[in-house]
Amino acid sequence: VTNLVEAANKANKRIGTALSHGVLSNNETDYIDIVKKEFNYVTPENIGKWGSIQNTSSDVWDYDALDSMIDFVEENDIAFKGHALVWHRQAPSFVNGDVTAEDLTILINAHIDATAARYSGQIYAWDVANEVMGDDANYRDSVFFEKLDKKYIADAFTRAHVADPETKLFYNDYSIDNINAKSDAVFTMVTELINAEVPIHGVGFQMHLDASNAPSTKQMTDNLQRFADLDLDVNISEIDVRLSALPWDQVTKLAIQQQVYHRAVNACMNVDRCDAVTVWGFTDKYSWIDGEFGPDDPLLYTADYQRKPAYFAIADAF
Ligand code: XIL
Repeated sequence: VTNLVEAANKANKRIGTALSHGVLSNNETDYIDIVKKEFNYVTPENIGKWGSIQNTSSDVWDYDALDSMIDFVEENDIAFKGHALVWHRQAPSFVNGDVTAEDLTILINAHIDATAARYSGQIYAWDVANEVMGDDANYRDSVFFEKLDKKYIADAFTRAHVADPETKLFYNDYSIDNINAKSDAVFTMVTELINAEVPIHGVGFQMHLDASNAPSTKQMTDNLQRFADLDLDVNISEIDVRLSALPWDQVTKLAIQQQVYHRAVNACMNVDRCDAVTVWGFTDKYSWIDGEFGPDDPLLYTADYQRKPAYFAIADAF
């Protein structure tokens, strides 16, 4: 194959990347050329988050960055997933423990109404709720849950659907990539939302994986399939594969990383309702992993934009 888009097209799926507004606006040609050539789906890495849109006051919205990214994807025929309407991280500073339940509801509603309506009909999907389940498989103890209980989740989907009735609405989370206590809890939550006729159309599995203990193809397939069996779309929404915990030399590490990417894309291939694989960035030059977990090489291209074995894993598995 000549590029990942061609490979993904054959499989009737999309291939996506997180897109950095900062790098895009620096006109880094290598970066931009790869986005245009290799991907037909993008998620803004940061600028779609609530705190990026309303970082000063609850009366001020700033959509300049998001608007310019939407222009870029439209010019290049790339589909877009908004990310993320309700998330406990990177929220505005006025969304904190001092706010009353009533005020918090008003703030969430105003944000969803304005933001989802602004791109109504223009984008493919929205991550409506992100990471609302805790690592202990109970609802995450965020300001949202503390003030509004789990009802805020259903309300966010309902509200987003009114503001933008065409766009697919997703729940998105990490460490739910195989069948485990946390993915069971998400499965129960999503089942309840569906039974309550809440407009939820899919689930995104982030897959921030560690090559030293990543799930098998079968483990990932079985999990994706049980969500698909709820009549939902599923996708791999933020994959990267850390290799620094592996004890071997770099060539061996890169080969194992390649296998892990291959397994994940294979799992998506095994599930008809898996509509996309999105990598959380594509060059090791720019990855959130370095800041969050320490130096690593988790993506598809080296820092100087050479394709790594992981790239060929994706091309192959589609
Ligand atoms: C990360 C970005 O990549 C970083 O630049 C930022 O500092 C923190 O957020 N789960 C998500 C993403 O849903 O939005 C996160 O992105 C990574 C974890």
